[in-house]
Amino acid sequence: MVGLGPRRRPSRKGSMADMPKDLLEQIKEFEEIFTVDAAKLKQVVNHFVKELEKGLSVEGGNIPMNVTWVMGFPNGHEQGTFLALDMGGTNLRVCEIVLSEEKGEFDITQSKYRMPEELKTGTAEELWEYTADCLQQFLEYHHPGEKLDQLPLGFTFSYPATQDYIDHGVLQRWTKGFDIEGVEGQDVVPQFEAVLKKRNLPIKIAALINDTTGTLIASAYTDPEMKIGCIFGTGVNAAYMENVGSIPKIAHMNLPADMPIAINCEYGAFDNEHVVLPLTQYDIIIDRDSPRPGQQAFEKMTAGLYLGEIFRLALIDLIDKKPGLIFEGQDVSKLRKAYSIDSSLLSAIEEDPYENLQETQELLEKQLGLKAVKSELELIRRLAELIGTRAARLSACGVAAICKKKNIESCHVGADGSVFNKYPHFRARGAQALREILDWAPNEKDKVVILPAEDGSGVGAALIAALTLKRIKEGNLAGIRDEKQFQALLG
Ligand code: BGC
Repeated sequence: MVGLGPRRRPSRKGSMADMPKDLLEQIKEFEEIFTVDAAKLKQVVNHFVKELEKGLSVEGGNIPMNVTWVMGFPNGHEQGTFLALDMGGTNLRVCEIVLSEEKGEFDITQSKYRMPEELKTGTAEELWEYTADCLQQFLEYHHPGEKLDQLPLGFTFSYPATQDYIDHGVLQRWTKGFDIEGVEGQDVVPQFEAVLKKRNLPIKIAALINDTTGTLIASAYTDPEMKIGCIFGTGVNAAYMENVGSIPKIAHMNLPADMPIAINCEYGAFDNEHVVLPLTQYDIIIDRDSPRPGQQAFEKMTAGLYLGEIFRLALIDLIDKKPGLIFEGQDVSKLRKAYSIDSSLLSAIEEDPYENLQETQELLEKQLGLKAVKSELELIRRLAELIGTRAARLSACGVAAICKKKNIESCHVGADGSVFNKYPHFRARGAQALREILDWAPNEKDKVVILPAEDGSGVGAALIAALTLKRIKEGNLAGIRDEKQFQALLG
């Protein structure tokens, strides 16, 4: 890029000094509605802890707290060859993982397939056929002409599912903009296995897994201090290990109280009742116009799928309520299209290193056909910062709530997802919020540290499949519907 101004100074006060008064006022308004102070964070966390508890109770609550039948952590001696399939939302990934005899070592072969946008609102048959196609292509490519034995598959299906068994999952509801008929309320495992069978693919689903549970297990495999697995991506969620004795909703199964079992919180659904979250009018519109109004309240304020849309709605509101204040006389039709702004635009705006915000200016022109002057660019930059900061600070509440609920004073948290990995300052802002919520002394080292996770939906899924087979062999049949179904995999 040419003709760039000097690099931005760390302090941005100077750049606001020559802002027109009405734009400064507007920035203040945005600051008021999007800022979440420490007191509010604490209030959110206190309610969050109660809601996590409620989800484990017999009567249940907004947060599903799904029992996963992943029982305990790997010890590093898991072995075997496993397939892993990740149906995350943006891509479909197939992996073959060989867990070796050497402690903690593995080999991975993988292929990625794009998940066509139309599939997300198509039919169940199209979804499963496409997914089976990817698996079939993978096997044909990597094992041409081979006669394969039955392979165990760890299927990462990252949507809320009720699991009575590890190879079972009744989809509670689609999230992340998916809206495929004929799957909600159904067990996805037989739907998918029927398509695999029709194609004579030598595959048995050994475990249906959530991406957070995979992240938890994969991260704990290499770092025993990992206690929570999180995703901050298109959607948001976390998993942690609970004692069976603290899960009243499965008390009737009479399992040993001290047996560990991973809980997939599905805390994107936190505060669906809108009791405590500091909603703006934009959050309310997002919910109203989404395929599932009333669901995933916490996710809709923090996840990558929605950050660009919150930003877009705020700008449109300004254009409509205060005509002429920004983009006077310009064609804003591109900006009017719902979901036309991706969170990667906010990332790029926040990353613009130049004092004159030239990269932001170029992006707005290229993506939205808008020519912004300096003061407009300043407002846009501030709005992106506010939305990104709110997301990071609220995201920290979920982690803090699990720590509080479990009385964890210090631990590592394994995190994955596009927002965590790519959104600028997300980690530092989240860490700052944790500091405020958990009241560490000013010079104290962070006790709860969110770190990049190991590959949850690849290695994590393979490990969970391996752990499942191992415990069946050892006779721990909790969450196993019919051990005979696993016979061909037990060797
Ligand atoms: C899904 C979760 C998933 C999270 C992150 C949410 O929308 O309901 O199952 O873990 O996204 O992918």
